[in-house]
Amino acid sequence: MSTFDVVDLIRTKRDGGTLSDDEIRWLIAAYTDGRVGDEQMAALAMAIFFRGLDDRELPTWTQAMIDSGVRMDFSSLSRPTADKHSTGGVGDKITLPLAPLVAACGVAVPQLSGRGLGHTGGTLDKLEAIPGWRAALSNEEMLAQLEDVGAVICAAGSGLAPADKKLYALRDVTGTVESIAMISASIMSKKIAEGTSALVLDVKTGAGAFMKKREDSDALARTMVALGKAAGVNTVALVTDMCAPLGRSAGNAVEVAESVEVLAGGGPADVVELTLALAREMLACAGVDADPAAALASGRAMDVWRRMIAAQGGDPDAPLPVARHTEVVRAASDGWVASMDALAVGLAAWRLGAGRARKEDPVQAAAGVTWTASVGDPVRAGQELFRLHTDDADRLPRALETLEGAVAISREPVERGPLVLGRIT
Ligand code: URA
Repeated sequence: MSTFDVVDLIRTKRDGGTLSDDEIRWLIAAYTDGRVGDEQMAALAMAIFFRGLDDRELPTWTQAMIDSGVRMDFSSLSRPTADKHSTGGVGDKITLPLAPLVAACGVAVPQLSGRGLGHTGGTLDKLEAIPGWRAALSNEEMLAQLEDVGAVICAAGSGLAPADKKLYALRDVTGTVESIAMISASIMSKKIAEGTSALVLDVKTGAGAFMKKREDSDALARTMVALGKAAGVNTVALVTDMCAPLGRSAGNAVEVAESVEVLAGGGPADVVELTLALAREMLACAGVDADPAAALASGRAMDVWRRMIAAQGGDPDAPLPVARHTEVVRAASDGWVASMDALAVGLAAWRLGAGRARKEDPVQAAAGVTWTASVGDPVRAGQELFRLHTDDADRLPRALETLEGAVAISREPVERGPLVLGRIT
């Protein structure tokens, strides 16, 4: 491979030029093995933040990040595979009921997930609230579980897209995360390296989402779908509302409990609706004609959940941890819930100990926020609105402060808007 001068590449991007495919491939390889320094990549990331990457540069950049590590291969499985990625929202526990549901319909779901950072929770943190459950699986264990049970939710190994791991950490501390090009390449390099043949993206939009504006969410969805298709992955995106948090819980054990309710045929309507909408898309992308609502109603999805948890050492019948301290926030007036601030709810759960500030921080399994009414529901003055859960009473005052003004109550009935706002293919 040719060698380039990284300072020339930084100048090119800074001045609005484009990088050749060879330059991009060299750059990503050289950054991964340390020949290009963090300070140089930081300057380049800032240039890309302002200048973007064009329709040729971006797929090459994404492929170079995939090529920096291993690519998983599920072609030996007897059933097709489909995966889901959500750009992250408050109370977004959808992966938990979705993976076993789609598996119950005949599609294998290799769901490599992460831990939470900041106000959106991490799927692995939630599942670790289940006594005995372990996130780390070898590739062989993962393949065996996919063949046997059909669904795996586990930690992504360090060999997947290591260039992204390094670059994402750098972007995080240099104010260069919010670039549609770099977010798309980051997410899609990991998803494509995971080796799924079909992928459904849940791109959140609104106050509690990474992308607050609808046009930015649509642009992100379009860019990621194009990258997936260019890499031969059948990719579809749903753009979904994240103004209000999903369901009735945000945290770890509390979200597992809600997911189990959904699998048992109950649970909040919005969680059921989004789980079924994403399941339909995953099945269609994988080319399987099945009815996920029937699989949910019959208990087949619950059976897969129980086997999936047990296969990873978890006890699906064990009681979930309960917080040592709770505190209640009550409605100030009669009326209907007009809005609930997803960001405030996410921050409160985080402050109660459900999330972490630094990668190495532990999380509390029982911490979180639950609520009894969501947008459109009637409430009475004095009714319990929120319940805060934590093992550490010192955390309650700041979490309570965060929830001040988080709910607006209207005197007139309020209708909740649609959850699925757009579909991008
Ligand atoms: N999530 C990712 O994996 N990468 C980004 O760049 C942003 C969110």
